Amino acid sequence: MRFLITAGPTREPIDPVRYLSNRSSGKMGYAIAEAAIKAGHEVVLISGPVDVDRPRDVTLICVSTSDEMFEAVHQHTSRCDILVMCAAVADYKPAKVSKSKIKKRAENISLELVPTQDILSSLPKNRNYLVVGFAAETEQLEANAGKKLREKNCDVVVANDVSRADAGMESDENEVDVFIRDGEIKKIPRRSKKIVARELVKIFENVCEKC
Ligand code: PMT
Repeated sequence: MRFLITAGPTREPIDPVRYLSNRSSGKMGYAIAEAAIKAGHEVVLISGPVDVDRPRDVTLICVSTSDEMFEAVHQHTSRCDILVMCAAVADYKPAKVSKSKIKKRAENISLELVPTQDILSSLPKNRNYLVVGFAAETEQLEANAGKKLREKNCDVVVANDVSRADAGMESDENEVDVFIRDGEIKKIPRRSKKIVARELVKIFENVCEKC
């Protein structure tokens, strides 16, 4: 099968030296890419800026902003069987990017933010590939993941609690609940991201084969 996987954060520029971003390390997405390669699949990995070793045998596409990630995903979906949106794509970006470095002043300043393009919601409803979204939650994991499954038109949503210090963002470990469109829920207990990734790839293969 051909996997298209996104990983890491995006950076939304404010001026030539500053940006808005988040704590995603890329470890979860890169572990899924590595597990998919080990399981014999082809992998295209679209990555935001991270400090993780490039997995062997993947085609790596490096992007920085949410707009670049949006373009890269749309360019490659026609050649994939499973899209895994593990990247922590920014939800907002500055309304204007200053061409010169914003000078420090004594008074407060405000930054106007506008919503970014939602990549998952922009995908066609009739498609011939499986769409896996992630849900990074700090409360009501199940309710919010179910909402994302429906509203973002996903086939599968992998939910993780990003308020924990021992799992989720940046950590080497994760614990996830996998919500499948037919109502089935699979739980993967806290393990290294490499082991969680192996289990996830097996689940994605099974769901894909059933469709
Ligand atoms: O990178 P690590 O440190 O290993 O951490 C892994 C992780 C916690 C980042 C990962 O497991 C994870 O949860 N990734 C999704 C993060 C996220 O953006 O979640 P969300 O609930 O805000 O978004 C829901 C889904 O919409 C995600 O699949 C996201 O890729 C997608 N999205 C978000 C914004 C946007 N503009 N377009 C999108 O498609």
